[in-house]
Amino acid sequence: MKLVLASNNAHKLEELRAILTTLGMEVVPQKEMNINIEPEENGTTFEENSYIKAKTIMDACGIATIADDSGLMVEALDGEPGVYSARYGGEECVTDRDRLNYLLSKMEGKENRKAKFVSVITMLTPGGKKIVARGECPGEILNAPQGENGFGYDPVFYVAQAGCTFAQLSSQEKNAISHRARALKVFAEMVRKEQEHADK
Ligand code: IMP
Repeated sequence: MKLVLASNNAHKLEELRAILTTLGMEVVPQKEMNINIEPEENGTTFEENSYIKAKTIMDACGIATIADDSGLMVEALDGEPGVYSARYGGEECVTDRDRLNYLLSKMEGKENRKAKFVSVITMLTPGGKKIVARGECPGEILNAPQGENGFGYDPVFYVAQAGCTFAQLSSQEKNAISHRARALKVFAEMVRKEQEHADK
């Protein structure tokens, strides 16, 4: 099955492709379909934004589309940056590193460092099928970055299960435990059940 990915984020493509290929799904980024639209993410939840992205791109290309909306939720910041993770800090924060530093400045003096990454995957088909799956990965925000791999807030996101930050893991290791991997696991199970049902 061919799926268009409603994103041009190379890191997301790599992570989603690695996992979905094992399910026999071919993932093609939207730009390979000559779609340069950037959907307006004006929802207030990961579910809403994930749907907006999948629907906008599916309407433009006419084939099954998958979208991931993800972000970091920090307990001591009342769930910030949440759905605003990619835009945290406003126009003054241009790069991932700017946003990471902005987060660290907001966390100064905070004792509670608990956080989680959240991913909501939505798949829509032109025939009207909709599959939504959510995955979460708990962790803690460090005081300073550690590691060079991954992207976004990875260098300050410490995962007890791994004993290091996401940025200190190889992509394979991150793909085994990340929020996106967990959402995709749920997603794969839902697809498998649907296929079983259709075969009956
Ligand atoms: P989206 O593209 O609108 O879903 O925004 C996701 C944003 O959340 C990214 O730009 C990152 O800032 C952050 N994010 C999501 N997943 C990850 C991850 O796996 N590692 C680090 N940051 C992430």
